[in-house]
Amino acid sequence: GKSWVLAVTAQTPTNIAVIKYWGKRDEELILPINDSISVTLDPDHLCTTTSVAVSPAFTHDRMWLNGKEVSLSGGRYQNCLRELRSRASDVEDEQKGIKITKKDWEKLHVHIVSYNNFPTAAGLASSAAGLACLVFSLAKLMNVKDDHSRLSAIARQGSGSACRSLYGGFVKWIMGKEENGSDSIAVQLADEKHWDDLVIIIAVVSSRQKETSSTSGMRETVETSMLIEHRAKEVVPKRIVKMEEAIKNRDFPAFARLTCADSNQFHAVCLDTSPPIFYMNDTSHRIISCVEKWNRSEGTPQVAYTFDAGPNAVLISHNRKAAALLLQRLLFYFPPQADADLNSYVIGDKTILQ
Ligand code: PMV
Repeated sequence: GKSWVLAVTAQTPTNIAVIKYWGKRDEELILPINDSISVTLDPDHLCTTTSVAVSPAFTHDRMWLNGKEVSLSGGRYQNCLRELRSRASDVEDEQKGIKITKKDWEKLHVHIVSYNNFPTAAGLASSAAGLACLVFSLAKLMNVKDDHSRLSAIARQGSGSACRSLYGGFVKWIMGKEENGSDSIAVQLADEKHWDDLVIIIAVVSSRQKETSSTSGMRETVETSMLIEHRAKEVVPKRIVKMEEAIKNRDFPAFARLTCADSNQFHAVCLDTSPPIFYMNDTSHRIISCVEKWNRSEGTPQVAYTFDAGPNAVLISHNRKAAALLLQRLLFYFPPQADADLNSYVIGDKTILQ
């Protein structure tokens, strides 16, 4: 028959957890041992753009990431693709004379082309934006009628933290109780306009790939740490309540204290893992000291720091004025140089490179 291509493009920003997800109770379905809360960055920086296309001429599912073909054979991609196909609906494009029925989606193949607008080598290549964007764009192409929260449960099976990128603003990933994961979904706590004077600065401490992947790191922590159960059962549930309050009231001092404490506890359970996992390095520690000293001297927190599974610092400042002062300090103490501890700063839509 006549050949045709139908395509959809979407853009999804990454998100940074302020109450961390660390530890799974089910590895296959990616079900966490605690709730988490994140802030989604605005799409100008650290976002993924994905185009997905379907055509009867495609002989199998294929994907290119930043111009290079990558394999889709991994279980996580396959789970997402299967879930989406099973929820696909009829699609009709009268102009092109295309009609795809719900049943056709089982046999048709897709091509996926994905780009990150940040250097993949910057060590910031979070899978969160990528998997969220893949699920979102395919859902649009396949006319999946589920709402964002239901889609988040599909993205979750690609990468846990990806489920939180389906929404902007502040997002909570509810761990859920069901064994099949149907209630382990993301919900929006507040939209992007709610607290828009916050400024996020990312200090790119190392462009090296992390040594311990989050998947194996979490597994080792859950298997060997004696602190992780206390964190998941006693500490995080209380922090989640307090963090929701702080966000609702735009209470920056409370927000900053909780964010820093939770980052530090996440890295403490990594250290409590056997063998210990070190994600932060000396430069990360120096940045923490610098921020702690500054916050202390001001009497009230001006900046919050948080670190994921790597040494790069995510710094959240109260407002533009605090961000300008922070950047001044950072540039003084950590001037970016080609061979230095710190490579660059990513701020808003600008990157200060070496
Ligand atoms: O979703 P993953 O497997 O990339 O794990 C993310 C883990 C952290 O970034 C460290 C914390 C979080 O909640 O995003």
